[in-house]
Amino acid sequence: MEKKPFFISTPIYYPSDSLHIGHAYCTTLADTIARYKRLAGYDVFFLTGSDEHGQKIERKAQENGVTPLEYVDKIVASFQNLWQKLNISNDDFIRTTSARHHAVVQDIFQKIYDKGDIYKSAYEGWYCTPCETFWVERQLNDGTCPDCGRPVEKVQEESYFFRLSKYQDRLLQYIEDNPEFIQPVSRRNEMVNFIKGGLDDLCVSRTTFDWGIPVPFDPKHVVYVWFDALTNYITAAGYLDDKEKFSRYWPADIHLVGKEIVRFHSIIWPIILMALGLELPKMVYGHGWLVVEGDKMSKSKGNVIDPVALIDEFGADAIRYFLLREITLGMDGNFSRDALINRINADLANDLGNLLHRTLNMIGRFNGGVIESPDACQPVDPIDETLISLANNTAMEYEKLMEKMDLNGAIKSVWVLISRANKYIDETGPWALAKDPAKKERLNTVLYNLVETLRIVAILISPFVPLTGPKIWEQLGLGLPFASTTLQDAQQWGGIPAGTVVSKPVPIFPRIEEKSDEIEASALPAKKQPKVEASPAPVGPEVTIDEFAKMDFRVAKVLAAEKVKGADKLLTLTVDLGSEQRTIVSGIAKHYTPEELVGQTVVMIVNLKPAKIRGIESRGMVLAASNDEKLALVTASGMLPGSKVK
Ligand code: ME8
Ligand code: MG
Repeated sequence: MEKKPFFISTPIYYPSDSLHIGHAYCTTLADTIARYKRLAGYDVFFLTGSDEHGQKIERKAQENGVTPLEYVDKIVASFQNLWQKLNISNDDFIRTTSARHHAVVQDIFQKIYDKGDIYKSAYEGWYCTPCETFWVERQLNDGTCPDCGRPVEKVQEESYFFRLSKYQDRLLQYIEDNPEFIQPVSRRNEMVNFIKGGLDDLCVSRTTFDWGIPVPFDPKHVVYVWFDALTNYITAAGYLDDKEKFSRYWPADIHLVGKEIVRFHSIIWPIILMALGLELPKMVYGHGWLVVEGDKMSKSKGNVIDPVALIDEFGADAIRYFLLREITLGMDGNFSRDALINRINADLANDLGNLLHRTLNMIGRFNGGVIESPDACQPVDPIDETLISLANNTAMEYEKLMEKMDLNGAIKSVWVLISRANKYIDETGPWALAKDPAKKERLNTVLYNLVETLRIVAILISPFVPLTGPKIWEQLGLGLPFASTTLQDAQQWGGIPAGTVVSKPVPIFPRIEEKSDEIEASALPAKKQPKVEASPAPVGPEVTIDEFAKMDFRVAKVLAAEKVKGADKLLTLTVDLGSEQRTIVSGIAKHYTPEELVGQTVVMIVNLKPAKIRGIESRGMVLAASNDEKLALVTASGMLPGSKVK
C-alpha cells in the first residue's frame, strides 16, 4: 500500500544567538511526532531551518564586525550540531539565504504584485526589531512592543503593502469551517478576536537596510523578513523546483510553532497562500513556553539554559524524555535541574532500567539467556491476563493519544505499563519459582511475558527516546533491525520467538547522584528503588583525593573469631593492628566460618566511627567484595599488620 504523506515543520529559528532549551523543546516535539508518524507507516517530511535575514541579524553582524553571512554561517552550523546531538530526524534543513529560497520569495512576491495584492505606498509607524514586527500606534503598550515589552522604533519609509484587509472575511470563514486549523482552541479564539478587530494591510518591504531578498521589480527594497521566512515552508516542499514533491506534501499537516508566532502563521501565512491560490496548512499548533525555575529565560537574567551542555551531561534521551514527559503540549512548562534529575532517576534508571535489568538478569541466571516458550503453561494465570491486556490496551491507547497530539498522555501510559510489569515481577516471584523444578513452565511463562512487555515498550518509547528503543531491542536479542519495526508490531502480543537469546544486561540510564544540598529542593519525593539483582552498581558520585585520603585503611590480622549469639549473619573478630588489638563485628557469618578466618590478613578501615552492634562495640570494618550471593574478604597476605592501604 502506498504510504500517506505527512509534512510537519518547526519554526525556522533566528541565528541571532545560539539556541536554548526552549528551541530544543519545540524541535524535540516535532521530531517525536515525525518519528511516531514514520512508525505508524506515514511517508514523513520533517522540516526545520534558519531564518537568516532582517534588521536584527544585520545589526548583530555589525556589532561583531563581520558580514551578516559570516555571522549566520557560524550560528547555523551550531543549530545543525545541536540537532544532530539531540537526534533530530529532520528530512531537510532550509536556510533562507539559500538560492532555492531566494528564487521562491522573488517568484511569489512578483506573482502577488502582478495580481494587484501588493501595492506601493509609504509606511509610517513603529517597528520592534527583536520581534521583526510592525505596529501601529494604537497597538503599542505604553510605547513598547505589545508582544515582548521592549522599546519600538519609529519607521517612516517607502514600502510595498500586502492587502491583508481584502482577505479578512475569507480567512474568518476558513477558520470557522476548519476547527482543526488553529490549535489549541485557546489560540484559535485569540486569533479570531484579533482578525475581527480588523486587519490592516501589511508592510512587506523595507528600504533602510540591505540584509534581505531584493524585491524583484524594485531592488532598492528588501522583502520583509516575515514574508520571506514564512515562505520557507513551500520552498522546502518543492514549490518551484520539484512539482511532484510539492503536490505530494503540500498542504503541510502541522506547522508547530511557539504561541507568540501563531499570529504570523494563522493570519499572514494563510493570506499569502490564498493570494497564490494554494491550499492552507491543515494545522497551526501553538505550543507553550518553557520557563526556568519559574522565570522567563533571558540573557540579562543569565538563566538561559544551553541544551548542548545538558546533552553532554545527561545524554540526549534523558533531556528529550524530560521535555516530553514533564510539559503538557500547549501549556507553559518549567525547566528545573532537580526535576530533570528526578525524572532520570525515578522513571529512566529505576522504572525502565530496572525492569530491563531484572528481566535479562533472571533469564541469564535461570535459563542460560534463552527465552523459553510460554505455551506449555495452561491455563493462563489471571495475573498474566492483567499484564497482557494492559500491554495490548496501552499500544492501542497510545496510538489514539498520539493522533490527538497528546504526547504527554501517550508517554505516561507507557510508564503505567512499565510499572505494572515491575509489579508483575514482585507478584509472580520468579526467584522462588526458579528454586522449584516443578515450576519451570510457570517460570518460563513469567519470563516470556516480561520480555514481551519490554519489546512493546521499546517500540512505543522510540519516538520519544530514539537511542533507547534500539538499545533495549538489542539486549533482548531481537534480530530484525529496529528501524524496520512498526506500530502494528507493538499492537500484537507474542512477537518474540521462543529460543531468542538475550544478552547480558547493560545499564541504559545510570542513576544521577548529586550532593544532598543540591537535591534537597527537588519537587518529587525519591521513589523506592526496586532491588537490582547481582548487577554491577553504577559508579558512585565523585570524591576528591582529599576526601579519599581521610579514610584510614590498614592491614589487620585476625586473631580470633566467634559467632554472635542470636544473629546468624554476624561474627565478632579480634584483630591485630600492629600497635593495638581491636574488636569488630562483621556481617560475614554466612560466607566464612570462624575457623577459616583465624590467621587471615585482611584489610579494614580503622577510623570509622565506632558503632554498637548487638551490644558489642565494633571499632572498624573489614572490606569485602560482594554481590547478592557471594562475598570475599579483601586480603593482603604477607603484609605486616598496621601497614597502610591506599
Ligand atoms: O520567531 N519556550 O524565531 P525564534 C518554548 N524566526 N519555545 C521557545 C522558547 C521558549 N522559552 N523560546 C523560543 C522566530 N521557542 C522566527 C520564526 S517561522 C517562519 C519564523 C521556540 O528564533 C518557539 O517554537 O525567535 C518559538 O516560536 C520559536 O522558538 C521562536 O524562535
Ligand atoms: Mg522570538
